Amino acid sequence: MGQDSAFWRPQSQRIRGNLRKFSIVTLSLALLYIYSSRTAWSQNSYAQFESPAQAAILSRCRALHLQPGPPDNFHERTVSDRFEPQTPPHLITNAKMWTGRNNGTEVFAGDILIDKGLIKGVGHFGSDVASLRQKYSLGSELVVIDANNAWVTPGLVDAHSHMADYSSPALDGAMDGNSYKGIVLPWLRSIDALNTHDDSFALSIAGGITTAVILPGSGNAIGGQAFLIKPRKTTERSATSMVLEPPYTVNSSFPADPSRPPRWRHMKHACGENPGSSYSNTRMDTIYAFREAYNTASQLKKQQDEYCSNALAHRWDGLGEFPESLQWEALVDVVRGRVKVQIHCYEAVDFDGIVRLSNEFKFPVSAFHHAAEAYLVPDLIKKTYGPTPAIAIFAANARYKREAYRHSEFAPRILAEQNLTVLMKSDHPVMNSRYLMYEAQQAYFYGLPENLAVGCIVPAQSIASVTSWDADLVLWDSHPLALGATPLQVFIDGIPQLETPHVVEKPDAFQQAPSVPNFDKEAKAAVEYEGLPPLEPTPVKTRPVVFVNVLSVFAPGADGVEELFSAQDSNTLGTVVAVDGQLTCVGVCSVDFADATVIDLEAGSISPGLVSFGSPLGLEHIQSEPSTSDGTLFDPLSGAGVPEIAGGDGAIIRAADGLQFQTRDALLAYRAGVTSAIVAPLAPGVFGGLGVSFSVGAAHKLQPGAVLQEVTGLHMKVMQLLPGPSVSTQIALLRRLLLRPVDGPSKEWFEKVVNGEIPLVVEAHSADIIATLIRLKKEIEHAHGKNLKMTITGASEAHLLAEELGAAGVGVILNPARPFPLFWEFRRILPGPPITEHTAVSALMMHNVTVGLGIMEIWEARNTRFEVAWAALSSGGMSKKDALALGSTNVARLLGVKALSSRIDMVATQGGDLLTLSSKVVAVISPSRRLVDIL
Ligand SMILES: *[C@@H]1O[C@H](CO)[C@@H](O)[C@H](O)[C@H]1NC(C)=O
Ligand SMILES: *[C@@H]1O[C@H](CO)[C@@H](O)[C@H](O)[C@H]1NC(C)=O
Ligand SMILES: *[C@@H]1O[C@H](CO)[C@@H](O)[C@H](O)[C@H]1NC(C)=O
Ligand SMILES: *[C@@H]1O[C@H](CO)[C@@H](O)[C@H](O)[C@H]1NC(C)=O
Repeated sequence: MGQDSAFWRPQSQRIRGNLRKFSIVTLSLALLYIYSSRTAWSQNSYAQFESPAQAAILSRCRALHLQPGPPDNFHERTVSDRFEPQTPPHLITNAKMWTGRNNGTEVFAGDILIDKGLIKGVGHFGSDVASLRQKYSLGSELVVIDANNAWVTPGLVDAHSHMADYSSPALDGAMDGNSYKGIVLPWLRSIDALNTHDDSFALSIAGGITTAVILPGSGNAIGGQAFLIKPRKTTERSATSMVLEPPYTVNSSFPADPSRPPRWRHMKHACGENPGSSYSNTRMDTIYAFREAYNTASQLKKQQDEYCSNALAHRWDGLGEFPESLQWEALVDVVRGRVKVQIHCYEAVDFDGIVRLSNEFKFPVSAFHHAAEAYLVPDLIKKTYGPTPAIAIFAANARYKREAYRHSEFAPRILAEQNLTVLMKSDHPVMNSRYLMYEAQQAYFYGLPENLAVGCIVPAQSIASVTSWDADLVLWDSHPLALGATPLQVFIDGIPQLETPHVVEKPDAFQQAPSVPNFDKEAKAAVEYEGLPPLEPTPVKTRPVVFVNVLSVFAPGADGVEELFSAQDSNTLGTVVAVDGQLTCVGVCSVDFADATVIDLEAGSISPGLVSFGSPLGLEHIQSEPSTSDGTLFDPLSGAGVPEIAGGDGAIIRAADGLQFQTRDALLAYRAGVTSAIVAPLAPGVFGGLGVSFSVGAAHKLQPGAVLQEVTGLHMKVMQLLPGPSVSTQIALLRRLLLRPVDGPSKEWFEKVVNGEIPLVVEAHSADIIATLIRLKKEIEHAHGKNLKMTITGASEAHLLAEELGAAGVGVILNPARPFPLFWEFRRILPGPPITEHTAVSALMMHNVTVGLGIMEIWEARNTRFEVAWAALSSGGMSKKDALALGSTNVARLLGVKALSSRIDMVATQGGDLLTLSSKVVAVISPSRRLVDIL
């Protein structure tokens, strides 16, 4: 969410503002059941003289010192309390299990038996199913699944989710993630807002999520208590039945049976911008609000402890009632060390405040979430009271606000080197938790070791040695760290979650962890420059640049991407020569190396540069800081309209006039193979402006080749989400402007659209709106007798009209590239494997629709290469050429870029092609700027 246009600002700011207010968790915790032995209390010898009331007080006082954890006999259980009686036992044979043992390095090949919601046994059970049945009294219904050597991991745990509290599609009636009744609300419980109809439950399960920590949002310093849920459907269909390990307080306000060991509780805290902005507070106000709350809780704890020391010493006279407070009991439990506190906190100054707070009031912190600057201050983090908190972060999602500006993609590896526990989390629906494993893949790409990368989203519960764990397992179609890894089956509480999973064949190589490039230098620079290392490219001064050991060369062709060269094997790797940004020789070249710059691609590749579209890349630096942005257009449909002096109703705005070069997201994208972007003015409503194509690597607008095409297409939007008039009014406006343009500068451009000279690019998601647009296109063509070029962007539901779009010659840019039912008009997505056979990409391509992939927020631009790879891998059987076209030539063509071969740079990758995790982008060959940049 975020988006090219201003309408998204109010909308997305509100929703995102809400969504961003989140925080985190600890995996381990719920699933690991670190059992701590109960404090032994000597029975007092006065027992026979106690009244029942006194006995209750004593039992309550003793309970204050119990440490949370599972019951003593937890590992003796034979049936899970979440077992659904109709579930048959399953035997998974020939599995390759990542066990989590030995620091995440143990892989065990064998069989797993699950029954009664639990893992019953792990070993080599061979084919003697009969004796297995007998040994485990399995009955006749045992289901045997041959995993055929597939990878199996424990179910993924999302340490930070708002699933069901901010449910999807987002509707005003279910935005329950944050209460704004006060800055400190430890008495609220996320379970009270759990919408059991969230569309994302099934989607996230399809990505392997089996447990999620549901945190209140971060709009408050203390937003409330968090709960762990399993996202599967339960027989009871209630919110409570989804909760895992409910603490004793779910059914009552205070412990009902104090003799039971308490379960871990969870609580959300937040510092920095979010609680501040919600209450017009400064950071000083927020930390004071914490201190005041903790002071209250500590005083109550002290009163309770004094009360109990009197009671335990049988000084009953005048003792009165046990000091208790419905509002503060949860925070008292925090100070008693019985709550996993999950703190949303980004910056050094904020960690510092919390570290002081935790030491003043002596409470441990389970994890810092988002924690953009944690990698810069590991020693500070280690000063937190109690055990060192885990750090729960995003892989590459950063810079969307000031306090996230210094986050680094190298943070996971740097934190791990500092012996801090790293968790990847989704903040769902900020990021779609279906793709949590993709976060781990990125962390791995940037240097987090393999053993830790898998472990950062699965509990190290050691399935090989412990046979009473919940039967939450994922069978994968590839190594989980390979791009595109997709579950073949997901078990929750022993119940298979995918009814008829669709599988895409993966190459054998995908069963191994991919090799990844070396980023040691970059990681070091990230720390040295406190998150802002220099990113500007270095142009090569010598004229010929020679690339040796080239595996393949792709280039923009007449109708997509064509392959210019492909080596048969490692003995026939080729050579490529570039002079002044032009390829002068490809394949076998005899060169005088003496005056050339030589770059060894190590079986790498040269491909068309990727083209970014869909976000305000080039118009803003920091999404939530308006002073870093070009700003938004006047909305002609608002009451005020466009002032006459600014052009009135006939005004037309060019994005080219607002371009900002060398934003960090642009430079990071450039270093990841995105060489140009197309951006439209940020518009609050239906009326957009003229798009521009620009070079992502250029230093400023006046550099030759910086602006690649001053005007690409005319951009509009038709959406239910837009503020202002109805969809039918938006269509009426579009029809009117195409049939009878308003006098003024815009007229010329509407005429060019009608004459088919530039495309009309319309953002629309709903199939109903897209259908209306197809009809409108025909109507206009009929009226003018000319072909109108139309491209639909966004297009979440476009697959429902694949045939009609193909027949109408309307192309589609899917942004987001991986679909998600974020809003009502996005809801009918085609999710792709394992849920459906087709993806939107394959369904549209089947009907000859030209498809491109886009993004929504500027930080995503750098991930384009991986997005293209994901789309190609999940769409099955796509050629390299077609895959590259999805992210390059198709996007440019659909948006009106002409003369592609001079406007699309070429990208050289070392160690593999652009779409693999094993390669690194090392150079850009730019015909428009007549240079080769070394990265
Ligand atoms: C665990 O693995 C990491 C990364 O491979 C390594 O740096 C660390 O030393 C290991 N820890 C132990 C206790 O072996
Ligand atoms: C809460 O009450 C329900 C209904 O009586 C019961 O089924 C459930 O086990 C109770 N949960 C806890 C944690 O006590
Ligand atoms: C991390 O832990 C390892 C193994 O226990 C130890 O050798 C190393 O010094 C630690 N590194 C830091 C930065 O604390
Ligand atoms: C798509 O195009 C190909 C090649 O032009 C053609 O053979 C095929 O029939 C088309 N398919 C559809 C569904 O239009």
